[in-house]
Amino acid sequence: MGIIFLVVPLALLSVQLSWAQEDPLLPFSEVLDPDHKVRLKWGFDEIQGTILFELSVTTSGWIGFGFSPKGGMTGADVVIGGVGPEGTYFTDGHAEGNSMPVVDQQQNYKLLSLTESNGTTVMKFQRSIEACDENDLPITTLPIKLIYAYGQTDDITYHGTTQRGTKEVNLLRYMPRVSPPNSKFFNMTMVNFTVPANQTYYHCKIMKAPTFNQKQHIYRIEPLIENFDLVHHLLLYRCPPSVKEPSEAECYTTGNEQCIEVIAVWGVGGGAFEFPEVAGLPIEANASDFLYRLEVHYNNPSKTAGRVDNSGLRFYYTSELRQHDAAVLMTGLGVYPGYAIPPNAKSFLTYGLCDTAYIPRVLSETPQDLQVFSVMLHTHLAGRKVRVGHFREGKQIDFLAADEHYDFEFQEVVNLGKTKTVKLGDKLLVECTYNTESRSTLTWGGLSTLDEMCLAFLYYYPAMSLSICESFPDHDALKAEMMTTNNNDWVFMMYTKTWNDTTINQYQQTLKRINQFVKVADSYKNQTAINIGVIPDLKVIMPATCMSGCATKCLAWISLLLCLALQLAY
Ligand SMILES: *[C@@H]1O[C@H](CO)[C@@H](O)[C@H](O)[C@H]1NC(C)=O
Ligand SMILES: *[C@@H]1O[C@H](CO)[C@@H](O)[C@H](O)[C@H]1NC(C)=O
Repeated sequence: MGIIFLVVPLALLSVQLSWAQEDPLLPFSEVLDPDHKVRLKWGFDEIQGTILFELSVTTSGWIGFGFSPKGGMTGADVVIGGVGPEGTYFTDGHAEGNSMPVVDQQQNYKLLSLTESNGTTVMKFQRSIEACDENDLPITTLPIKLIYAYGQTDDITYHGTTQRGTKEVNLLRYMPRVSPPNSKFFNMTMVNFTVPANQTYYHCKIMKAPTFNQKQHIYRIEPLIENFDLVHHLLLYRCPPSVKEPSEAECYTTGNEQCIEVIAVWGVGGGAFEFPEVAGLPIEANASDFLYRLEVHYNNPSKTAGRVDNSGLRFYYTSELRQHDAAVLMTGLGVYPGYAIPPNAKSFLTYGLCDTAYIPRVLSETPQDLQVFSVMLHTHLAGRKVRVGHFREGKQIDFLAADEHYDFEFQEVVNLGKTKTVKLGDKLLVECTYNTESRSTLTWGGLSTLDEMCLAFLYYYPAMSLSICESFPDHDALKAEMMTTNNNDWVFMMYTKTWNDTTINQYQQTLKRINQFVKVADSYKNQTAINIGVIPDLKVIMPATCMSGCATKCLAWISLLLCLALQLAY
């Protein structure tokens, strides 16, 4: 009996909480006008090639929204909708000048809902990210000028009280700029570091973060780059508690590679990273357990001596805590020295599988589903593509993320476009494609940039004390399949093998076919290795197709509006 009484209020509570949270499909929002009457929410899926909008305007008249090449009406791609006396109307149009928009021949916006209540009209619609006809503007990863207009009535032609405006927003690479109360910052940077006269040099500095007597949330991370011509990219990793002393040295020379939990990253061309409004990266009160490793890749092609650098990262934090603690989970292929990528490979695939069913085994707290909002994909110099497949009950349900043009020098934490739920029990498969045509010897899995990695760092909430969920192939099975005699040395065999297209392909297939072990660890390196079976197949990513928004029932409205549009000047 007691259990029933408990369950019901909890279920109600969780419904209420989820209403108070962000809509996972519409994680971004901007107010477009100075009067705060026009609010746009959006979310997108770059792999499916779609973007979803919810425009809400304080009016019971018509509302219009669109994209403009220069901010004005000319050349603008617009949708107009509303709830009128005869029902709802919605059309995809374009403006040829400062005139009433013309209805597009092809309707490429799909209306999902249109409501009016208490003097507010809310229109939810979807379109393709790319342009589907010559009257639509494509949405890119650059800022775009959004335009809006609305009227007090549903008579689109009555322009006496039309309100209109424009705002530039980067829809696909959105970073809000919030200023919470009690906001402060601290920096983690190099200090007067003299950059060596080497073309490529990686400097690692292990340092403490400031401590606070009360818990804080980091909500924004900004690059502080002093020498844009020298600093190529930088990463900040959290160290395990076993690393206790600050130190500074060339990377991967002193054992400082124990610090592998990526917290932040910046690459050439990158900007600041801001957490969603519902989450912040926690700094616990008096948290002196953890040190951090700042790794800066200096690129000094002219080999200039004596340049001094103070680059690093700035962390904005606030004591006004957000709803959730955010955290970063490393998934992919274990950095395990037992595997190697053969030379002369045009395209060599490796896989790492995170089976989240094993997460509860290392946690002391109650495990929860992961709400993933951003991801950073990571390989070293030979990486060309990274794809993350999402599996549930044996079936691939999505790609969590994918980069078909991976470039080591342009690493970024990217927003997924919507908050994706990884349920406990789901599997995440990270697939990396490498090119080693320019290499004459094996590339081992390892920490140096000349070694390889295949990782996806997931930014999620609510935080769990968890840092790694990865896999590696069963080394005994690999040896058994690959070695011709029992007394052969594995490393020697790999180095002396003849690598051609056939042997490379056989080795790649073997790596995928044999059993994999999963490793799940928290920050204290508690872990488990369990045989999780074989690597599932990933789907092919289909090129996004254009959507057609219009069913026959809206054709009547189109012809009516087309008629109006042709007759009347704006
Ligand atoms: C860094 O160098 C500048 C200029 O030489 C000097 O003023 C400053 O005190 C140095 N900082 C530290 C922490 O050594
Ligand atoms: C896991 O980590 C905690 C915290 O340090 C430690 O007390 C515990 O003994 C560890 N458990 C295992 C199984 O290693």
